[in-house]
Amino acid sequence: MIRITLIGSGNVAQHLIKAFTNTELVEIVQVYSRKKETLASLIEFDKITNDFEELKEADLYIIAVSDKAISDVSAQLPFQNRIVVHTSGAASLDVLDAKNRKGVFYPLQTFSKNKEIDFSTVPLCLEAENTFDFRILETVAKTISTAVFPINSDQRKALHVAAVFVNNFSNHLYQIGHEICEEHQVPFEILKPLIQETAEKINTLNPIDAQTGPAKRNDSTTIAAHLEYLTNENQKNIYKLITQSIQDDRKTL
Ligand SMILES: NC(=O)c1ccc[n+]([C@@H]2O[C@H](COP(=O)([O-])OP(=O)(O)OC[C@H]3O[C@@H](n4cnc5c(N)ncnc54)[C@H](OP(=O)(O)O)[C@@H]3O)[C@@H](O)[C@H]2O)c1
Repeated sequence: MIRITLIGSGNVAQHLIKAFTNTELVEIVQVYSRKKETLASLIEFDKITNDFEELKEADLYIIAVSDKAISDVSAQLPFQNRIVVHTSGAASLDVLDAKNRKGVFYPLQTFSKNKEIDFSTVPLCLEAENTFDFRILETVAKTISTAVFPINSDQRKALHVAAVFVNNFSNHLYQIGHEICEEHQVPFEILKPLIQETAEKINTLNPIDAQTGPAKRNDSTTIAAHLEYLTNENQKNIYKLITQSIQDDRKTL
């Protein structure tokens, strides 16, 4: 049995608690939360602590707190030479205090507390300072996910930037689509199968081959009409920038 301690009570910590609660090989020894009540519905209350000094011995400590707090939290841990990892895509390994063996346990997915997720499909990007520690992370990761990858800090940075494009920016474009629909009283609902199919397509096609639409076809009449139709300057600018980027891709094909 591998004994783990989770530090944090936010989106990621809560999903990790749920995922590890269903495994047989990993036991959650304790969870640290500044506000103990936050986790009361997820784990036995006597396993929750709000005092770093009360942390028990474990094989692995997973710090799932805001990026800017990782360094401070890792420095406050009252022990040394144990495996301590963070869950951030953006933070480097070195934000962790050097008194412990550092690692990363980055789940590349978008988590919200109240949205259930099938953790078995969540890619887990792992990094450790040596092979022994990596094997422990890998064993733990494989109890909750079938998608486990060795990813170093440089690679994780690239993945994180790419994730901002494919996740946050796409979602922002959904938001703009939603605003345009609302403004013109048409149901956003009608666009949902298109959103689904666009995401599905990249399971079988390279994104550049999956692209369609006026920019890809170089349909300048439609592009001009769309720009004429849009009244919001920000929407116009985004439309122009992405159209240009798609057209630049066309030229290099
Ligand atoms: N959410 C995602 O989709 C996602 C995906 C992959 C990776 N991550 C990474 O996972 C980590 C956690 O993200 P999250 O979304 O779970 O964050 P979150 O929901 O905002 O929760 C942040 C947690 O950090 C705690 N915290 C903040 N400052 C602290 C401090 N100084 N001392 C102790 N605890 C502190 C908060 O405690 P209080 O509740 O007491 O304020 C809370 O439990 C981050 O490194 C993030 O980059 C997030």
